[in-house]
Amino acid sequence: MNPEKIKEDFPIFEERPKLTYLDNAATSQKPRQVIEAVAEFYSRNNSNTGRGLYKLANDASQAYEESRKTIAEFINAEKKEIVFVRNTTEAQNLLASTLKFEGDIVLSEMAHHSEQLPWRRKAKNENKEIDYLHTSNGKISLENVKEKINEDTGLVAISHISNVFGAENPVKKIVEIAHEHDALVVLDCAQSAPHIPINVKQLKADFITFSGHKMMGPTGIGVLYGRKALLEDMKPYQVGGGMVGSVTKNNVKYSKPPHKFEAGTQNIAGAIGLEAAVNYLQDLGLEKVKTHDKQVSQKIRENLNKIEEVELLSPNSSILVSFKVRGAHPHDVAEILGQNQVAVRAGNHCAQPLHEELDMNGTVRASPYAYNTESDAEKLAEAVKEAAKLFN
Ligand code: ALA
Repeated sequence: MNPEKIKEDFPIFEERPKLTYLDNAATSQKPRQVIEAVAEFYSRNNSNTGRGLYKLANDASQAYEESRKTIAEFINAEKKEIVFVRNTTEAQNLLASTLKFEGDIVLSEMAHHSEQLPWRRKAKNENKEIDYLHTSNGKISLENVKEKINEDTGLVAISHISNVFGAENPVKKIVEIAHEHDALVVLDCAQSAPHIPINVKQLKADFITFSGHKMMGPTGIGVLYGRKALLEDMKPYQVGGGMVGSVTKNNVKYSKPPHKFEAGTQNIAGAIGLEAAVNYLQDLGLEKVKTHDKQVSQKIRENLNKIEEVELLSPNSSILVSFKVRGAHPHDVAEILGQNQVAVRAGNHCAQPLHEELDMNGTVRASPYAYNTESDAEKLAEAVKEAAKLFN
């Protein structure tokens, strides 16, 4: 991996040469290959999918379905198990709105609001109990999993990698325990799919959700993977055009999955852009991306560790690095960093209940990706030093 060379594929860094972009957990930058794939679709192949009988329409439908195939292969799923959605949030809402199951819901207290609020609403509407798995050293505690997942549990919704601390949860074990109790598992891979290979057959979760924009793809396109048999049993999320076999005044026959869940004209260009992003990541090699990202994180940690006022909050192996600066509010630190052209996120990262539980007023989060270099880690540390000096 040569991050300097990779950077050349990203026009934004030409446009803003001084930018140190370390906010990839919020959204990643886009390579030329993705931008061009989207532009090319609109310039050469634009048509609606699954409707027209002319060649252009067939080409667009074929390109859209090719993208589905590429994404299925990327996570070792079948094509019909891939539903295109807007993002992780929509995937979680789709599931919470349509999935029927007996029993209560187990979430984790570290959950992002998008993997928490749809299930909390479902629990309220359907009189289900909710319990929260505790966090220990930034991860879901396995001890707590054994206590809380039991015969009353119908569904467990957790994240693969926390968007606050970056720790990888022991998901295989959690899935195993949930399945021993016949509970379904929804796994949010928004923070893992961009950096580490995802294999649905190995993870064995019933549903997996992720967003395209965090993995070099366009915004407005995401993925819901669901086990075939489960998707077949589920009712549609939205109804309308493009998801029906036949409609009479008194009857509707829905299409089979995945089309049953894709009502209305889809983000066709987005799906094509996501395919280009997946191809780009595969050309880099996801294992290599993971190793590189961990190396940059390690450099970030080493540099920040030398600053007396800094408290590191993420575990050593994590890709994203959350920290606090003594005497300074995380938003103030992020602002000073921003003035130094270092982009990070600060605050509660859409995980307010976790911050309440840990009595924290937020963190500063630096999240690297394939184009970040050791020099980015140094620029971050220099800017953090400036912030620490200002507030102490
Ligand atoms: N979920 C994104 C984040 O953690 C937006 O920043």
